[in-house]
Amino acid sequence: MSILLKNGRVVTADSDSICDILVEGEAIAAIGRGLPAPEGVAVNDCTGKMVMPGGIDPHVHLEMPFMGTFSSDTYETGTRAALHGGTTTVIDFILQKQGSSLRAALDEWQGRATGNAVGDYSFHMAVTDFNPNTQLEIEEMIAEGITSFKTFMAYKGALMIDDAQMVGLMQEVKKHGGLVTAHATNGDMIDTLIAQHRAAGKLSPLYHYLSQPEVTEAEASGRFSDIANYTGVNAYIVHLTCQGALNQVRRATERNQRVLVETCIQYLLLDASLYENEAEGAKWVMSPPLRQKKDQATLWAGLNQGLVQVVGTDHCPFLWEQKLLGKDDFSKIPNGHPAVEHRLELLFSEGVSKGRITPQKFVEVTSTNAAKIFGMFPRKGTISIGADADLVILDPEKKHTISAATHHMNCDYSAYEGWELTGKVDTVLLRGKVAIDRGEAKVGRGYGQFIRRGKTAF
Ligand code: URP
Ligand code: ZN
Ligand code: ZN
Repeated sequence: MSILLKNGRVVTADSDSICDILVEGEAIAAIGRGLPAPEGVAVNDCTGKMVMPGGIDPHVHLEMPFMGTFSSDTYETGTRAALHGGTTTVIDFILQKQGSSLRAALDEWQGRATGNAVGDYSFHMAVTDFNPNTQLEIEEMIAEGITSFKTFMAYKGALMIDDAQMVGLMQEVKKHGGLVTAHATNGDMIDTLIAQHRAAGKLSPLYHYLSQPEVTEAEASGRFSDIANYTGVNAYIVHLTCQGALNQVRRATERNQRVLVETCIQYLLLDASLYENEAEGAKWVMSPPLRQKKDQATLWAGLNQGLVQVVGTDHCPFLWEQKLLGKDDFSKIPNGHPAVEHRLELLFSEGVSKGRITPQKFVEVTSTNAAKIFGMFPRKGTISIGADADLVILDPEKKHTISAATHHMNCDYSAYEGWELTGKVDTVLLRGKVAIDRGEAKVGRGYGQFIRRGKTAF
């Protein structure tokens, strides 16, 4: 099957021009001006539209067992919703069970994903119990195409590892050329503050925020960077939210260390005043919590300074009835919010349309950098001959309004209800097939493929 995209404004991380793209089979076959249409080719006139690489969201949690429940999007609903919003590949987190093996966790996650995903997906491996047996499995996971290893410096008793395990994991991953990522917040300090607030009867969602002050993230980000510097491993901080944490990354540059940074769309756009809404604040209970306006300014600047390379979502939706598990106690609210569908449109509208970032920066932080950092480039993350034809055709002028009534995520509320955006995804191609055509899904369950990843090339 061939498709010719004509006269689009084709934007990559390093180019921006009006041209045509010929797609043959699953890949891009030609790029140029005035490309002739081979016989039988479907022609899509992209005049006035932008054509960009499919989005890559390297931080999602689908059907994740967490806080006594499961995140509400399955591989099917989550990857389909992602496609609707122009994200063609997601990277989910496998969670090792403490006391069990990485292999067992991989089998469990493959069981949920295989044959169910609509869009392409890959896995990070969260190491929650680093011991001599786990150590032996690191190389094996890399051979499976799982080259990034997630650590939690919080959620003690469930996911958190201590600094001794962190050093050991980093040394092993470094040996095999992988990447270590971190949820960098100080778990012990957070648990103490949670206990203090609960003991004082302070139980509303606001106290979720007040139990995770900026210092808890700044301290852990610094510690993670320091241990990474000592071991020499490639390091990446997930969902970085605030000035104090980014300053630790800036500090690391002074010794010529590069710590890679992901922020998430919500930390650029939403702030902690939402927690003052006692009835609905649970919608935005996530970890780390939303921060302040000064932190948003730091993150936008960080994108343009190249200190923040990736904008993900940490998509981890829960239905309202699941959120109500914590109606009498903030510490029982399942952490996370729905976002995978709207990352591109939110960042385009608030970032590109409002002049905060250029279209090329948009492509860099929503797709290209993640492809490079997580070992999928140039198959994914760019528009070049031979690359997978994962393409988003976006109408930059079209206005629309976000609502739970129209979104495709399996979540009965939207964290951005009523937001009016400029710029809408029109058509999405995944490996050469039209996956979304003006709001309609054209591929189904099982079309999504597992993407084996290589090593960081950033
Ligand atoms: O609130 C969040 N972030 N939920 C998902 C787990 C995590 O920490 O990423
Ligand atoms: Zn996290
Ligand atoms: Zn997460």
